[in-house]
Amino acid sequence: MNTEVLDIARRDLNLNGYLDIEVDPAIDLFAGIERLKKEKNAIILAHYYQEPDIQDVADYIGDSLGLAQKAEKTDASIIVFAGVHFMAETAKILNPSKKVLIPDLKAGCSLSDSCPPLLFKAFKEKYPDHAVVTYINCSAGIKALSDVICTSSNAKYVVESFPKDQPIIFAPDRNLGAYLNKVLGKNMLLWNGSCVVHEIFSLEKITKLKVRHPQAKLIAHPECEEPILRIADFIGSTTGLLKFTQTDPSKEYIVATETGILHQMMKASPQKTFIPAPPDNSCACNDCPFMKRNTLEKIYLCMAYEEPEILIDEELRLAAKKPIDRMLEISARAGL
Ligand code: 13P
Ligand code: SF4
Repeated sequence: MNTEVLDIARRDLNLNGYLDIEVDPAIDLFAGIERLKKEKNAIILAHYYQEPDIQDVADYIGDSLGLAQKAEKTDASIIVFAGVHFMAETAKILNPSKKVLIPDLKAGCSLSDSCPPLLFKAFKEKYPDHAVVTYINCSAGIKALSDVICTSSNAKYVVESFPKDQPIIFAPDRNLGAYLNKVLGKNMLLWNGSCVVHEIFSLEKITKLKVRHPQAKLIAHPECEEPILRIADFIGSTTGLLKFTQTDPSKEYIVATETGILHQMMKASPQKTFIPAPPDNSCACNDCPFMKRNTLEKIYLCMAYEEPEILIDEELRLAAKKPIDRMLEISARAGL
């Protein structure tokens, strides 16, 4: 490999968070990525919110729980994580000896950003008798301050694993926390974080859409705000929503989550209609600006140069791993 090009790439990586190298448009990226997978014994794990081309080139597509479980079990030497930073970091925490690559280091998450470790530590210290349940959408620093991690797939099981009278702090998503409080009859103390994608769905526009499509079912991710969840016909994680559309007899769905999931819904049920729920702005759909930083070109480059790589301090990794392991055990017991 041309080391001069590699040096230039490293310099650009510092500035942009990704390898800012022009890719020859004549290259067949799908074939190139498949070749690199074989050459390097690499696996691509992709979240449902990735663009369709990335989902099509991935070896595994899943929700946050499925991706963490897959990352824990893979025997590939390199994990290429087509998702956001906290997901790739979780894969590294579970796999210290493997190289974990992320196509763009700046693929962050507003929920994770809403909960800085120093502020959260001070908050937690005010409630020493509380257990801490944390949504996986957070940094390793927050995970290290938690008793157990959860995802939207297993949150009910995780919260119910505590004795009924155990006071709990739930962070960082206030919407998921409020939803859990409601369905489980809990009074967990909530951190005030939210997801930029799920907090902007318009109740008014969805109501109008339901009038125009009276047979359509509204399906929503629990990161949505309470007024949306109140009128939803089904609430679930991305995997939960996808499975629901495969088994439910309806023909039409209004989907209140990031639009990436529609690709798998349409592939699994081509005879059905999926309408993205409209947000409260002039855009017709809802894309996560962090998830959508990843592109096929960036995946190809990060596999070719093995950069950007996720690295983590060993002491922090061990502290963050404990609550993730506890989550994985609870999930396995629940058959998830
Ligand atoms: P799940 O993958 O658990 O459905 O969560 C969605 C999400 O917002 C991930 O960032
Ligand atoms: Fe974070 Fe929301 Fe994007 Fe998921 S969809 S990565 S929660 S900002």
